[in-house]
Amino acid sequence: MTQEDPRILELRKMRAKALEGGGEERIAKQKAKGKMTARERVIALLDPGTFNEIEPFITHQGDEMDLLKEKFYGDGVITGYGQINGRTVYLYSQDFTIYGGTLSEMQSHKICRVMDLAVRNGVPFISLIDSGGARIQEGVRSMGGYAEIFRRNAQYSGVVPQVSVMLGPCAGGAAYSPALTDLVIMVEKQSFMFLTGPEVIKAVTGEVIDAESLGGSGVHTSVSGVAHLSVHSEKAALEMARHFLSYLPSNNVENPPFTPTTDELARMDEELNHMIPLEATEPYVMHQVIEKIIDQGSFLEIQPDWARNAIVGLARIGGHSVGIVGQEPAIMAGVIDIDAADKMTRFVRMCDCFNIPLVTFVDSPGFLPGIAQEHGGIIRHGAKLLYAYSEATVPKICIITRKAYGGAYVVMSSKYLGTDVTYAWPSAEIAVLGAEGAANILFKKQIETANDPAAERKKLANEYREKFNNPYYAASTGYVDDIIEPRESRPKLIATLSALRDKYAPAPPRKHGNIPV
Ligand code: HXC
Repeated sequence: MTQEDPRILELRKMRAKALEGGGEERIAKQKAKGKMTARERVIALLDPGTFNEIEPFITHQGDEMDLLKEKFYGDGVITGYGQINGRTVYLYSQDFTIYGGTLSEMQSHKICRVMDLAVRNGVPFISLIDSGGARIQEGVRSMGGYAEIFRRNAQYSGVVPQVSVMLGPCAGGAAYSPALTDLVIMVEKQSFMFLTGPEVIKAVTGEVIDAESLGGSGVHTSVSGVAHLSVHSEKAALEMARHFLSYLPSNNVENPPFTPTTDELARMDEELNHMIPLEATEPYVMHQVIEKIIDQGSFLEIQPDWARNAIVGLARIGGHSVGIVGQEPAIMAGVIDIDAADKMTRFVRMCDCFNIPLVTFVDSPGFLPGIAQEHGGIIRHGAKLLYAYSEATVPKICIITRKAYGGAYVVMSSKYLGTDVTYAWPSAEIAVLGAEGAANILFKKQIETANDPAAERKKLANEYREKFNNPYYAASTGYVDDIIEPRESRPKLIATLSALRDKYAPAPPRKHGNIPV
């Protein structure tokens, strides 16, 4: 029997060492917290047998403090490429067992390398983040490393999809990089995001708070809006990343993948014709409207727990990806406030980046009045939404189900913001103001001097309602393209999306616009 070449034996030894991460003890600690190792996560994320690692032998180059004592192959991050549903992705997975997954100069080089490769090859980039942020011992080297990553996050935004899966306590830069990406997924009670942790906060401001209340998944998916989705386990988070990407193209010059549906294209759901209450002040559930129109079970709602008066999410109609935007009249009557405007703006822009047509369902009484909103800059935030819809060149279809009053009519994909086709249901009310409010302003004197002011107001409001609070005035002036029965919405959308598939609407050349952030 021929003896193995010692050089090959040496490689095998080094490879085995690289697989050890931060060593048995630290791995046991990671496991005791119910967490997977960095490598297990990569394997669980990708199609079986498709992972190829690159740069496994890189070690840190810093020599300050205790850094010379221990060197670990990989330097706290596993990088490489593989496939998700048969499509290539690049990724990195931080290894908390090595210096807490913290970012060193060399770790940053590894991460930037796969980001660059992802963009050069026009495929998505996924970050599995479990890191204490900048590695303290490397000082400015690690901070510069983060800057290299952030710059790429920004420059590659809208070129390839970027997904961040938060899998541990993510501090400082480990929270900022995800904030620049298209989707941030957190795991309940396991992932935390903060710039400075509870201890620093206590030292600086004297405030006492635990990690969960400061930056847990509940906070970021329902209060701050920093994260998009929260799931109950690591496996579910990785599955969610796969699911999200199934709606997106691999890059900004491709179209999203087509997913054949068994849901009949001509299906008309009779229940839709009975969804809108006859009384304008009674709510209904827009989520149910959406579910009855799209391909069954295809809705992936984004940020479902933040600004719940607005709805955004990915879905399929006739097998094609669409971005759904709308109001939920069952929550705060579907009014548009600062957070709702922010949520819809970011989503509209993401869909536009990745050639995903927009379907907007409108039922809103307008922007939320109030001092807090005005002083909080609702004008600036609402302007973002105007900007996003005006700028978007993807096919845009709008369905007005009920109220489209004033500013809400205009910002929610109205025809002259460049929407391709606008439909209204017979229940649509398209007007500058609601009937009572309009009567109060237009006929103030007449109401005040009437024998019975309340009866006079009601009469005048009814006259106004007949004239404006219906879709027919808007249709007669060309502001809506057609009035359809609610049950016709699915076949109409399928036909309209098909007619708009080759839409070509180039924007005038410029460096970039100046969105009011
Ligand atoms: C070096 C670090 C580290 C860091 C943790 N470790 N954070 N090493 N630099 N920033 C090491 C620990 O020494 C330990 O090493 C191992 O990682 C695990 O850490 P523990 O503290 O034992 O774990 P845990 O109790 O789970 O706490 C995790 C943690 C905490 C919440 C992340 O370690 C922490 O608060 N770290 C500091 C976070 C921070 O302030 N980072 C700087 C952010 S500023 P051993 O050898 O024992 O395994 C930043 C700059 C860029 O990122 C900002 C750009 C905008």
